[in-house]
Amino acid sequence: MEKVTIPKLMRMKKEGEKIVMVTAYDYPTAVLADQAGVDVILVGDSVGMVMLGYPSTLPVTMDEVLHHAKAVVRGVKRALVIGDMPFMSYNASVEEAIRNAGTFLKAGCDAVKLEGGSEMEKTVKAIVDAGIPVMGHIGLTPQRFALLGGYKVQGRDAASAKKVIEDAEALEKAGAFAVLLELTTSEVAKIITEELTIPTIGIGSGAYCDGQVLVITDLLGLTMWTPTPKFAKQYVNLSEVISNALKAYVNDVRTGRFPTDEHSYYMVQGEFEKLKSLRQA
Ligand code: KIV
Repeated sequence: MEKVTIPKLMRMKKEGEKIVMVTAYDYPTAVLADQAGVDVILVGDSVGMVMLGYPSTLPVTMDEVLHHAKAVVRGVKRALVIGDMPFMSYNASVEEAIRNAGTFLKAGCDAVKLEGGSEMEKTVKAIVDAGIPVMGHIGLTPQRFALLGGYKVQGRDAASAKKVIEDAEALEKAGAFAVLLELTTSEVAKIITEELTIPTIGIGSGAYCDGQVLVITDLLGLTMWTPTPKFAKQYVNLSEVISNALKAYVNDVRTGRFPTDEHSYYMVQGEFEKLKSLRQA
């Protein structure tokens, strides 16, 4: 089983082989995603919303993402693991950004991801120069949702399309090994994918990207709010499966159908009689 590397992702782009990426936040889903053949696993700052119940990704801390990243790393043998840099872990200074990015590699991640385009060029270059691979993230950047006026599709008009394309070019120039395009129009994603030599990974950005990423709870039907965006294809409704299993458990315990002999342990033959006499003595 060949470990997925950055040169392999470059080869996949060149040869037109689609790159498959998913988020994961814990050991069991990391093991399952890796065994299913996923190429890249992102320990996203979405952990804050989908696992920790925060209303946005802004409160997420380095410690929180690292805690989940370590569990994911322990479960992965093949996929490239990326740690997502949370809000304010790379924004205040380049030095802090390098140090925090390095912490992800020390925790076993292969690379980091951070949000922002041309305005992050200097930071991305500095992190890459420190020997840490960086995936850029442009289009809709959820850590800046207030500046963007909400969770909106980017690149609908020519001016905003030009900005997303320039952001992608800046990230490639800064040395990013890939660019994640979130919620950008298909036309813009196509131009960027054709123009850049590094892979593009899309989420809600159409079919032309070199690869696709989904948030694992969307894919598995475990996201705790509705409606999820239309790009978030659900492959199974695990909420329903889990809810039905838990209701059956509640019912079984209340009605005495669980546990039965099958789930119980008994003393060695003859020991119960001995116990009785011990207790009478
Ligand atoms: O944190 C996250 O889940 C992301 C998605 C866009 C994949 O960055």
